[in-house]
Amino acid sequence: MAEELNIPREIGRAEKYQRLYPALESLLEGEDDLIANMANFVGALMECFDFLWIGFYRLQGSELVLGPFQGPLACTRIKVGSGVCGASVREGRSILVPDVEKFPGHIACSSRSRSELVVPVRGRGIIQGVLDLDSEKLDDFSALDQHHLERLVELLAKHY
Ligand code: SME
Repeated sequence: MAEELNIPREIGRAEKYQRLYPALESLLEGEDDLIANMANFVGALMECFDFLWIGFYRLQGSELVLGPFQGPLACTRIKVGSGVCGASVREGRSILVPDVEKFPGHIACSSRSRSELVVPVRGRGIIQGVLDLDSEKLDDFSALDQHHLERLVELLAKHY
């Protein structure tokens, strides 16, 4: 039977991340299939937060290919260097975009997205893809989200 998260939606973001860490740790440790773990990872985040879109892109050659996600349909392939996701891979760092209209080259998969956070996924010492989060609210992501999502992504990265 699948585990239940039992993280109330009404508690603050910092507390949600604190509760998510051990929950995701135990959810992922019992499974070594990367795609299954990515799917439950985005499912767990979507259960906690009201973001528009949460998902993975996997690096395949010079392109990022859409992986498990929740939210509206999304672009399937993004070239390294293109958009926020491609910039995150090229620069090897997380990128926080308070207003997507002000990010040169932003790729609008959904016209509803107003702000975005992209965190690179490093497995076995190299970048394997990104976790991408989109929000319908301007300036919805902060350094707090970036910090916690980078830690959560490390839990997944153990499975490469
Ligand atoms: N906005 C992203 C594209 C992916 S979608 O947001 C799901 C970008 O500029 O890379």
